[in-house]
Amino acid sequence: VPTASGELKRLLTEIPDFPKPGILFRDVAPVFADGAAFRVIVDELVARFAGRFDAVAGVEARGFVLAAAAAYATGTGLLVVRKAGKLPGEVIAESYDLEYGTATLELEPNQLAPGARVLVLDDILATGGTLRAAASLIERAGYTVAGIGVLFELAELDGRTKLSGYDTEVLLAE
Ligand code: PRP
Ligand code: MG
Repeated sequence: VPTASGELKRLLTEIPDFPKPGILFRDVAPVFADGAAFRVIVDELVARFAGRFDAVAGVEARGFVLAAAAAYATGTGLLVVRKAGKLPGEVIAESYDLEYGTATLELEPNQLAPGARVLVLDDILATGGTLRAAASLIERAGYTVAGIGVLFELAELDGRTKLSGYDTEVLLAE
């Protein structure tokens, strides 16, 4: 997004000491709230993987926003990768370390045909633990990770190394 990247960066607000002292939180709410910016980021994420995915997966919670829009825009299905304890029936789970704390993500398997190519979307790549866990769940469900798309990367945390082997596209980095 070369022409609009300055505008997008301006919208991506920095909030110091949230959710804990010492953490500089990147708030994507202003990007989602701006109609033109939201359209640009969804269209760009989709364009980078055009024709290479059969469904889109979003990571709870902010990844849902991007993934739902991308799935709708491309007429593909949507998978929801959820925080632990939200999904019924048979679930597969993957635990990961977050920048602040530990968490578990879950997925309901058997929603897509085996081998379906799934584009995994989220708002921010920090340590990479979240997206690595989400990608693992997609693979354990019998699908293929078509790629990983994120709006913003905190490059100094080197989350990319956790995602090596995946086609990762980032729209904005620090
Ligand atoms: C944030 C962000 C990413 C993740 C990135 O989500 O939305 O999903 O952290 O961190 P990582 O690369 O170090 O794993 P968070 O779990 O805070 O929750 P939310 O999306 O539900 O707000
Ligand atoms: Mg998140």
